[in-house]
Amino acid sequence: MNRRIIIGGNWKMYKTPTEAFETASALRTTLGDVSAVDVVICPPAIDIPAVHQAIKGSDLKLGGQNLYWEEEGAFTGEISARMLVDAGCQYVILGHSERRHVFGETDSGINKKMKKALSSGLKPIFCVGEKLEEREAGSTQAVVGSQIKAGLAGVEFANPDDLVIAYEPVWAIGTGVNATPEQAEEVHHYIRDLLAELFGPAVAGKIRIQYGGSVKPENAKELLSKENIDGALVGGASLKPDSFAGIVNAGR
Ligand code: PGA
Repeated sequence: MNRRIIIGGNWKMYKTPTEAFETASALRTTLGDVSAVDVVICPPAIDIPAVHQAIKGSDLKLGGQNLYWEEEGAFTGEISARMLVDAGCQYVILGHSERRHVFGETDSGINKKMKKALSSGLKPIFCVGEKLEEREAGSTQAVVGSQIKAGLAGVEFANPDDLVIAYEPVWAIGTGVNATPEQAEEVHHYIRDLLAELFGPAVAGKIRIQYGGSVKPENAKELLSKENIDGALVGGASLKPDSFAGIVNAGR
């Protein structure tokens, strides 16, 4: 199955608008032609206009890091799907482990966000992953499986390309300890089988599954060479143009 590689840069809460513009401009120059892969920059919301400006006219794509499921209203501090779309975003990260574990997001809230994103024309990058104690207890598949089933309950999409799953083991995020390609592939394979149960094998074969958690230029190629690993969601190594470019180059 030929799936187009997708590399996301999750900038988390790093970079002012000025710094974001400089980084995105440098990245554009460093990367050159990226038409062979999907490269999505997900900066903090306040940086989105600056990054949009810096990448305008290139193949680089823009994504948000979160949204709120209501159309609009009295929701201080939140950002709507329509705002992200109007600002130039095509993607949105949903259910990131920091949203789940630092900010208490629940599967049911993430499910509402998934539906809002898709009905608004945004492609969700839907994150799932187990904590270290869950892996050690042998419940990785149970945890990831229940996150996927809950997050995707009743979710409809026109094109399998519109949905991206990111498998990010919590113990690998920001720790420098990545899952081995074999450990990641095992979970990706499980996720693909689960997607086949939910949506049928033809659709499941087209949904892209990214790996995330301490991806670096040095380990990207081996991870991406696995059959069910269709891209990477990169945190720390996406903040510098050179290291992010190293990962994108591993993908093309
Ligand atoms: P990391 O973060 O690459 O810094 O481990 C990945 C992520 O949180 O998406």
